[in-house]
Amino acid sequence: MTDPIATQYNALRKNISSQDRRFSHQDGKLCFEGVNIEQLAKKYGTPFYVFSEAEIIRNIGEIQQAFAAHPNTKTFFASKTCSVMGVLKAIKDAGIYAEANSQFEVRKCLEIGFPGSQIVFNGVVKKPEDLEYAIDNELYLINVDSLYELDHIDAISRRLKKVANVCVRVEPNVPSATHAELVTAYHAKSGLDLEQAEETCRRILAMPYVKLRGLHMHVGDQVPESEPFAKATKVLVDESRRLEEVLGIKFDLINVGGGIPVPYKYDDENGNPLQDNMYAGITAQDFADAVISEVHKWRTDVEICIEPGRKVTGSAALLVTEVACEKRKTNYDLEGNVECHVEWKFVDAGYSVLSDSQHFDWFFYVYSASRITEPHDQYIKLAGPLCDGGDYFHMGVKGEEFLLPHTTQIGDVVVFLDAGAYTIESQTVYNNRPRTGVVMIDKHGNDRLIRREDTYEDMVKYDIY
Ligand SMILES: Cc1ncc(COP(=O)(O)O)c(C=O)c1O
Repeated sequence: MTDPIATQYNALRKNISSQDRRFSHQDGKLCFEGVNIEQLAKKYGTPFYVFSEAEIIRNIGEIQQAFAAHPNTKTFFASKTCSVMGVLKAIKDAGIYAEANSQFEVRKCLEIGFPGSQIVFNGVVKKPEDLEYAIDNELYLINVDSLYELDHIDAISRRLKKVANVCVRVEPNVPSATHAELVTAYHAKSGLDLEQAEETCRRILAMPYVKLRGLHMHVGDQVPESEPFAKATKVLVDESRRLEEVLGIKFDLINVGGGIPVPYKYDDENGNPLQDNMYAGITAQDFADAVISEVHKWRTDVEICIEPGRKVTGSAALLVTEVACEKRKTNYDLEGNVECHVEWKFVDAGYSVLSDSQHFDWFFYVYSASRITEPHDQYIKLAGPLCDGGDYFHMGVKGEEFLLPHTTQIGDVVVFLDAGAYTIESQTVYNNRPRTGVVMIDKHGNDRLIRREDTYEDMVKYDIY
């Protein structure tokens, strides 16, 4: 093979199937945590997501290890990343806590067994009924996002005669080199202006049932460098120190949010993460070092709260699909001259099943689980089953093209790697295609269904006619 892209992609294929902690191969078939994916596809029927509990545990271990220099750290999994109950259960069993962004997320976390004292509640719109639910369930923290919300917290906590523990979410005014929509600390809708922090804290201190615990921020998601975390933490630290002085108080904690990136591209070339944030650029350790070094310039006795999501589940799941159709088509110019031929392969999952928070320009490695030991030597365009012309995977290994073995046949199983964050949560029933099932391979290597696919009955049961 002389094509450098194909050479590199195939070197990576060999690495993944023989050296990656999640994968192995047996008789030419890809195994995930020792489980043969093709057999799993036969058992559960494609498309479906499959999670590895072992990888969730390893990811959580990495984050905890990263914060070893600050033992007084609390980790809240951002459940918006993946709120499948079986996944939440695995995360709870691994020993960390939960972050929620809506009343139903809070409710799911409670139902799976997180006590209120292990749940943090975020969100730009928390209605009075959401706040009442949170206060009634004695959540660890409500991160106050607006003065409007704060007035409701005051009124509800007085009425219920229950303490509401709060942080004030502020915007540190720090941009980061991630997707524009994933920047949350610069020109963003979330949080209060830094200048409003003092007035907000003063108001809270006069509220009989509202307890001020500290400041909160969230820099952004899939942030590919540590500098914005360090800068934003410094802003939060400086303001916390100042507020402690002018208000004569002592904060219990500082909440720095989430944002640890996941490597979606990890080839040897290791491109420039600042230009292509599908390369992670930093690890959980870099994130921790950036945060801890700034916090320790202020105090070592303060609790650090973190809210990682993507880093916990991103690498822990695959989307398993089947090649369901193929065709060779010709692109003509407007005069009818042949421009090129296109080899199309269709899998049974499109953008209604796999996008990252509705971002269709996300990159995923795609490999044939049925032929993992065969060279991936044919450039193809990879499409889903939806009616839209745009329902094909745009981010390939070469422009819009992907590589699969030229021997690929209908029925072959094809996997999308690192598909465990913000994907299942973003599924729709567009074209009346069901949302997928989800399988868990537990830490002992046993597989079980943790969410079933939508049925026809599910799809029609909301309609009243
Ligand atoms: C407030 C807050 N905390 C935590 C997270 C989780 O971020 P990540 O998945 O990048 O770790 C988010 C994501 O949007 C968020 O908005």
